[in-house]
Amino acid sequence: MSNVPTLDLPRLPDADATAASLRKAVMFQVRGRVASVTGDAVTVQGMTAPLGALCELQPPGAPATLARVIGFDDTRPILAPMEPITRLAAGDRVRLVSHALTLRVGQSLCGRIVDAFGRPIDGRPLSDDLMRVDVSHSSPDSLSRPPIDQPLQTGVRAIDAMLTCGIGQRLGIFAGSGVGKSTLLGMITRGTNADRVVIAMVGERGREVGEFIQRTLGTEGLKKSVVVVATSDKPAAQRLSAAYTATSIAEQFRDEGHNVLLLVDSVTRFAMAQRELGLAAGEPPTTRGYPPSVFNLLPQLVERAGRTEKGSITAFYTVLVEGDDNNEPIADTVRGLLDGHIVLNRKLAHRGHFPPIDIPESVSRLQNHLVTPEIANAVLKVREHMVQYDNSEDLISIGAYRQGSDPRIDAAIAMRDPINILLRQHSDDQTPMEMSHQMVMKLAAAQTVPANPAVAGNGGAQANAAAQANAAAQANAAAQANAAAAAANAAQANAAARPNSAAAG
Ligand SMILES: Nc1ncnc2c1ncn2[C@@H]1O[C@H](COP(=O)(O)OP(=O)(O)OP(=O)(O)O)[C@@H](O)[C@H]1O
Ligand SMILES: [Mg+2]
Repeated sequence: MSNVPTLDLPRLPDADATAASLRKAVMFQVRGRVASVTGDAVTVQGMTAPLGALCELQPPGAPATLARVIGFDDTRPILAPMEPITRLAAGDRVRLVSHALTLRVGQSLCGRIVDAFGRPIDGRPLSDDLMRVDVSHSSPDSLSRPPIDQPLQTGVRAIDAMLTCGIGQRLGIFAGSGVGKSTLLGMITRGTNADRVVIAMVGERGREVGEFIQRTLGTEGLKKSVVVVATSDKPAAQRLSAAYTATSIAEQFRDEGHNVLLLVDSVTRFAMAQRELGLAAGEPPTTRGYPPSVFNLLPQLVERAGRTEKGSITAFYTVLVEGDDNNEPIADTVRGLLDGHIVLNRKLAHRGHFPPIDIPESVSRLQNHLVTPEIANAVLKVREHMVQYDNSEDLISIGAYRQGSDPRIDAAIAMRDPINILLRQHSDDQTPMEMSHQMVMKLAAAQTVPANPAVAGNGGAQANAAAQANAAAQANAAAQANAAAAAANAAQANAAARPNSAAAG
């Protein structure tokens, strides 16, 4: 019963970081003049600066604008403005500001909303305890990364039970527009047991940002989060930087020993921003107009997440799939870089099945290292039922399937409703991971598929009936406390909010 007061010692700035920024500081004035402006590319003569350096464009009588070096035309730097240009002409002055973008990070950023430069946009000043860090970090050394062996709770049953993700894992959420990516990220933010959450909103519409922060994230979600915003109207260089800024904030929390959850919505808009910059710098377009640098930057960004000896960054990157084509180049590249992908299906959303996670199409590559063999087997069995149902859905829906013809299909039909109780979840509801695991174990235990369907005959149908009763009873028992109540709530809330999708539940 010790009641010893804890001392809140002042945080001293990191000496190494301070020395590094001093070395990088521009100690003398490097100045040049605007030579030409083509679209968003400003070519400068009379000075040079390294790639990624920050310069100030200084039109006379107008505020200075920050711009980043994105390439070179022969020896002349090409700059991309990071803020909208109001007035600029050939001959205007340019000044080198710093060799890299830096921002102020630290614990007191929690609950704050900042822009790509780390400047507050929620109307309050930043506190004094923040440390200045360089945004362009390299990724942790691959051999010094501890293995990912602990599960991270997201509070979303479909993920925790069927696609368990680990502390330090990196996953993609793949979906077309308006299918439910942001809502799912909001659910994860509120339901996770991570210590800190950093959210990058890259290229979202301005209206959506306020809506996401107030409605989807809510006060509870915002308390332990830092939100970095660069809306679609901001210049490409700023949208690109937002993802790096969020990653740097997450890295700082990781270095302080925290388990951080990093959510980037969306990595596709990050790639699109780099497409604009790459083309402006004179790179050749390749597949769908993306220049080679996009495919170079994507691995550099996602490799910065992960686990180190100090802490971890578990990252979810949303991927906007144009025309619901999961094979478009960015989706394809990101899928290959990550340790798992969660696919959202528009058909499920239309049916009112939320969150619309397509379990058979999704995979968490590390799941088997994170759960017991019993849970892994249970997940496999439930997946088999879902795949079996999907394969036979056309027959079932037109009434061409006769019950008793195939015991596996009978079992899949019987298990469908109990499985949906597990998978459907109202966005306000959070389920502890143990409960999700218990539910999936009960579902798997409830199935009774005969080993040899050929000799099962009529027994198949009976086993089916038994399976149905059993599965429903068991799943219900497990779900009663939480899922059923939540599902009922979801149904009510949905019915009230959207008369067309009252099926949720
Ligand atoms: N879990 C859920 N429960 C209820 N409704 C949901 C859920 N998820 C999504 N929706 C519905 O789908 C709509 C779109 O969701 P959301 O904004 O999350 O999609 P998005 O994929 O982020 O869209 P965008 O591509 O425009 O960013 C929401 O307005 C809501 O009506
Ligand atoms: Mg969204």
